[in-house]
Amino acid sequence: MGTPEAARVAAEPRTAGRVVADAAIHLREAGSATPRLDAELLIGHALGRDRAWLHAHPEFAIDDAARALVAEWLNRRAKGEPIAYIRGYKDWFSMRVATDRRALIPRPETELLAETAISEIAARLVRDDATVTAREVATGSGAVTLAIAVRFRTALMLGRLKLVASDISAEALELASENLAAHGVGHLVTLSCGDLLEPAMEGETAADLLVANLPYVPSDEVATGRGSMAWEPSAALDGGSDGLDLLRRLIGALPAHVAQQGVALLEVGAGQADAVRRQIESLPLRTVVTTLRDLAGIERVVRIARI
Ligand SMILES: C[S@@+](CC[C@H](N)C(=O)[O-])C[C@H]1O[C@@H](n2cnc3c(N)ncnc32)[C@H](O)[C@@H]1O
Repeated sequence: MGTPEAARVAAEPRTAGRVVADAAIHLREAGSATPRLDAELLIGHALGRDRAWLHAHPEFAIDDAARALVAEWLNRRAKGEPIAYIRGYKDWFSMRVATDRRALIPRPETELLAETAISEIAARLVRDDATVTAREVATGSGAVTLAIAVRFRTALMLGRLKLVASDISAEALELASENLAAHGVGHLVTLSCGDLLEPAMEGETAADLLVANLPYVPSDEVATGRGSMAWEPSAALDGGSDGLDLLRRLIGALPAHVAQQGVALLEVGAGQADAVRRQIESLPLRTVVTTLRDLAGIERVVRIARI
């Protein structure tokens, strides 16, 4: 039998503010680097509310069903599972992208790749009235292709833009297909499965715009399983001993797959841009190579323009 005081405390409604504070302590002890943020995201998810609402309503009483859900999710997070897999989505590039263990969780820095791809396509669509062909290799969850398809829905419907995407993982492509369908653009994009540029494109062989965020993490770093890497498919991360195996293979194939006056945009890891630039300059191809930095100041996207 507990004391009357314990019974009174147990019977008290548990407020959102209290549950967040307790959860943050639990996650800090479990080693999370962002315990308060994690707690707010999971508790907000259980209540169908965002963090701003939670901050404004610390007195909100959380019922037993929501507390049971939160307890289960906190245990998963305490074991290191990424929030995006627990919630089943990531808010990325102002879109809700479904995420699960079939594919890599889209990273904030990859928004630069999507943004740059969109600018390239927009510039081409206004420059002349030919059909623009855009191709994404290694689409994973489909996030980048989704951003392009949502932005250019009308151009795709009018046949001004043709958009194809591929990946070597059939499971990732299933998720990409679900994401495209959820945003109403599934019928506007062709998905195919295969190694790098192996999947044949209908009609054309060369794209006006080729976009790729290939696996570029060195194998020994993937093996540490740091952060979300322990939960994500290693084939989505592992770029070989220096991280550049797949980038080297793709760059070698660019001459046959990027059209005259076409552009390739490649996402690279920190410190990899120089090696990528050197390989491109050794190709039998006239190009102008530039790099774009992400918000952390890292050279993140290599832009290769055929001239
Ligand atoms: C870094 S993830 C990028 C996913 C997505 N584009 C993004 O930015 O979130 C790399 C993707 O490359 C795919 N991949 C790995 N090896 C490949 C290959 N040889 N050919 C095509 N895709 C490959 C993986 O399945 C994974 O989906």
